Amino acid sequence: MGTDRPPRRSKSWIVSIWIALSTLGLITAGAGLVALQPASADEPRVATSVCEAHELKAILEQNPDAAVEIPAEFDKPFPSKAACDSHVLAWDDLAEGPRQPIPFSHQHHAGEWEIDCMYCHQGTDRSQMAGVPSVELCMGCHEHFPAEYDELEGIQILKKHWEEQTPIEWVQIHRNPEHVQFQHQAHVRAGFECQDCHGPVQEMHKLYLVPDTQWWQYGLPAQKLEMGWCIMCHRENGGPEDCYACHY
Ligand code: HEC
Ligand code: HEC
Ligand code: HEC
Ligand code: HEC
Ligand code: HEC
Repeated sequence: MGTDRPPRRSKSWIVSIWIALSTLGLITAGAGLVALQPASADEPRVATSVCEAHELKAILEQNPDAAVEIPAEFDKPFPSKAACDSHVLAWDDLAEGPRQPIPFSHQHHAGEWEIDCMYCHQGTDRSQMAGVPSVELCMGCHEHFPAEYDELEGIQILKKHWEEQTPIEWVQIHRNPEHVQFQHQAHVRAGFECQDCHGPVQEMHKLYLVPDTQWWQYGLPAQKLEMGWCIMCHRENGGPEDCYACHY
């Protein structure tokens, strides 16, 4: 008989604290069902963009009773959910790499939509920004997209450049010093993939310099773009090691 008492006592102890806390509004999650049903939970969340509508549809899929409202104007398949998500991730300040003027995702364009690297990086060559696509090239596709895309800030910025005829000032990530000669063609022709030197670009929303360490002579480490990085690969694959091949 005496053994029944402690559990009972502790139960009522828990209940009284629970009631006290919920009266004070300190328990929001557990007590919310009874005491603290917030007024806002009854008001449906109304989508104000196609991207938000995707978000709310995902909530609805998990919980069919969720209070959610999607106006017809935002109940559209495009921009796709993947495009909305990539757009956020390409400007993720916690991810490595510089913040670009437009949240442009390689994962989305080159991965998801399988647009060929060379379609955008046609003349990837010696000159500084030669390899980065022009506003015209972007608009070649985006001009034909439905108006809903204008809700994406990146598309707004792109179209502003298009109207004002100003180039986008992309932040360059890979750059050799002036005294170094590097040509993409020789390397692409030798059979290297872009990813051999730039990493899995098609999986990256935000680009950064993917580290690569080569153990150079005397066991010294050479980081990507350093001389030892170039020479180690040349040594292994029959590239030139003569100073004048790389230096003018
Ligand atoms: C070959 C066609 C094509 C070209 C060229 C192209 N895009 Fe896109 N872009 C797309 C497609 C397709 C989508 C995604 C559509 C969807 O899923 O809703 C997209 C989505 C986007 C998005 C939203 C997703 C994201 O990455 O943030 C932005 C912003 C964007 N493009 C900017 C650009 C810019 C800037 C350029 C030029 C550097 C460019 N696009 C060039 C086809 C293209
Ligand atoms: C739709 C156009 C588009 C496609 C397709 C594309 N890129 Fe890009 N790329 C860009 C733009 C715009 C930038 C500049 C902004 C940035 O760095 O994200 C860029 C930047 C880069 C850079 C960094 C250049 C620097 O500043 O050092 C590399 C490397 C690169 N791309 C490689 C690739 C590879 C590899 C692929 C294929 C897997 C690819 N890109 C496909 C548009 C494209
Ligand atoms: C052998 C290594 C290597 C390969 C393979 C390679 N790159 Fe590069 N990439 C570099 C180096 C090194 C730089 C810096 C070049 C400079 O500053 O002169 C660079 C710079 C770039 C840049 C920015 C500067 C510019 O020239 O516009 C882009 C964009 C780029 N690469 C895209 C690509 C793409 C796309 C491919 C595949 C078609 C590719 N790269 C293949 C090593 C490589
Ligand atoms: C395969 C290409 C390649 C070859 C071959 C090469 N270099 Fe370099 N070198 C580079 C690159 C890339 C850099 C710039 C990156 C760095 O400083 O590590 C560089 C940088 C240098 C620098 C430093 C310049 C500075 O601003 O600090 C010197 C000096 C130099 N190289 C001398 C030589 C000499 C001497 C040879 C021949 C024995 C040689 N290099 C062969 C690619 C090469
Ligand atoms: C992933 C391996 C690899 C890396 C990294 C690499 N190279 Fe090369 N490079 C080669 C090979 C292989 C060749 C020989 C290609 C041929 O003969 O067709 C070559 C050829 C060259 C040539 C001669 C081009 C010509 O027209 O004959 C130069 C210059 C050069 N590389 C510079 C560089 C510089 C500078 C770097 C570093 C910034 C670098 N390479 C990094 C593999 C590489």
